Amino acid sequence: MRTPCVNDDILDKLVRAGKIAGEAREFAVENVRTGGSALELVEAVEELIRSKGAECAFPVNIGVNEVAAHYTPSKETDITFRIGDVVKIDIGAHVDGYPGDTAATVEVGTRNHSAMVEAAESALEMCIEMVSPGTTVSAMGGVIERAITGAGFKPIQNLTGHSMERFNLHAGLSLPNIKNRDRSAIKEGMILAIEPFSTTGKGKVDGGSKGGIYRLMRDRRAPPEISTLFSRIQSSFGGFPFAGRWCDDLHPQVSTLLPKMVRMGMIMSYPILIEAGKGAVAQAEHSVLVNAAGCLVLTR
Ligand code: CO
Repeated sequence: MRTPCVNDDILDKLVRAGKIAGEAREFAVENVRTGGSALELVEAVEELIRSKGAECAFPVNIGVNEVAAHYTPSKETDITFRIGDVVKIDIGAHVDGYPGDTAATVEVGTRNHSAMVEAAESALEMCIEMVSPGTTVSAMGGVIERAITGAGFKPIQNLTGHSMERFNLHAGLSLPNIKNRDRSAIKEGMILAIEPFSTTGKGKVDGGSKGGIYRLMRDRRAPPEISTLFSRIQSSFGGFPFAGRWCDDLHPQVSTLLPKMVRMGMIMSYPILIEAGKGAVAQAEHSVLVNAAGCLVLTR
């Protein structure tokens, strides 16, 4: 369990963040039901994360059917779960900036897509098994690709897992769902979010409309109300993504100021990622800490 690259204080924070993210994922999986509101679900999940002493590392992402990632509901854009929906729930928690990122897929009331969901889950387990110092990014992608194609589905080739650091969800290493040419090696002490995506579609996502998730870009000379909101966002969420609905308390005009800040390049708004062939998509994800023996799964 001990990892020399990570001191006990950091390890403790990573373990707590991962455990809370995992508990939040299980709560979410149990509470997706026909007729349920996605907004009510994500608000309950985010509240659970905070009640356990962590903060959200990003807004809970809900991906229904062909929507793969980057949608979070708001009052204006809420959706209701319908029977047969394939629902991905992607959750991030952090303790003092140390993140845990985890996801699961539930099919609402039917079992038409169990094999696709299991393909993503077993690809994740096989990849976790092989992670240790020296494993290459390319080899991890190859294992994921073979597990998913072997089950009769396609991996999504332009979505990846990622290395993480304190207050940083994308610390430089991208972990593909396919065998690519990246010979970079995994190192002890790295925190990795491994997240295979399987689909019945084309195996690719395209960007759609904006999904209600933002990230700070750069401070710029701006009218005072915008500068105030910028610094409040910075102190509330740091470098982590945030939801428009989290900003209601930060400024009375937030709904008009956020679009202005996007146009000024001070924040960016993530497009919703949609499967190119409108195929159903499943996702499984855990965060792991690489140690000498292999890795410690943080989000079980
Ligand atoms: Co992730």
